[in-house]
Amino acid sequence: MPETAGIALQYEEKAETLGPFAQDVRRGLGHSGQKYVPCKYFYDAVGSALFEAITLLPEYGLTRADQRILTRYADEIAAAVPPPLIVAELGSGSAKKTRALLEALARRQPTTYHPIEISPAALAVAERELGHLDGVSVRGFEAEYLDGLGRAAARRGADERLLVLFLGSSIGNFNRDEDCEFLARIRELLQPGDALLLGTDLVKPVAQMILAYNDPAGVSAAFNLNLLARINRELEADFDLHLFEHQALYDETAHRMEMHLRATVEQQITIKRAGGLQVFFRAGETIWTESSHKYTLADVVRMAGQTSFEPARHWVDEEWPFAESLLVAS
Ligand code: TRP
Repeated sequence: MPETAGIALQYEEKAETLGPFAQDVRRGLGHSGQKYVPCKYFYDAVGSALFEAITLLPEYGLTRADQRILTRYADEIAAAVPPPLIVAELGSGSAKKTRALLEALARRQPTTYHPIEISPAALAVAERELGHLDGVSVRGFEAEYLDGLGRAAARRGADERLLVLFLGSSIGNFNRDEDCEFLARIRELLQPGDALLLGTDLVKPVAQMILAYNDPAGVSAAFNLNLLARINRELEADFDLHLFEHQALYDETAHRMEMHLRATVEQQITIKRAGGLQVFFRAGETIWTESSHKYTLADVVRMAGQTSFEPARHWVDEEWPFAESLLVAS
């Protein structure tokens, strides 16, 4: 066998043994433009606990607003979706927010609930907490959003409608235009008359948005920096967390918060278990870790129109501008 073939084979074998996290880190930190890491990697055990803490911060009203709407208007929302119904929730987490709505639905008729979640720990909590509600049967899927939704949709009976929940403004964490593409992919798995309850965080004063992502107690900073700690832990990298700082900016044109980790000095990092990747940072260079788009109701109506949904109703929280929109597949 020629020597070059041997080398190629070795390389392929090596690439194959890298897990998805290592591959994504290689792709995001290894290329020459803006460095990035996909935001789903925030949520290891430490990251999930820090995010729970963020949701309790007075500066971060998003989760409480979402919860308030779902609790206060549970009966109205339930009345707007005709039975028989199965409910699938994308990224349910522990599904704390979903309880009131499921109870309202189950008061009318027995309801099947499919939480879809990549974190097995969170999924187990959802199954445990909601599994004993009267009239609700729970069957979770440990899966990515669309894979799980496809599996949930495949289990429905001929006469059953599907209600998809996509709460918490997670739609805002897609990159530009990918939010609409994602709605279109959801729509492909639905039939006319099925519905999507979509949570969106609304545009608000810039100072308020920045504070929500950069709280003075530093929980947001810890959450963001934990991504580097996770890369150190799981991929044997040598990031010094003291040489990076949390940055939260609002892009007025794109209507989004942008979270970055900024290298305060020039440095070189080695990530052993990402194929020994070496990453060079200029002083001030950043890793883009998340975008969080903010919407207007007009944006939601426009996205619905572009993806074969009919906006049926919106519920808005007045205290922290946030909307829950019921979009019906047309
Ligand atoms: N998905 C959350 C959001 O868009 C994530 C988040 C909240 C976040 N606070 C943060 C990400 C601070 C980085 C830093 O609201």
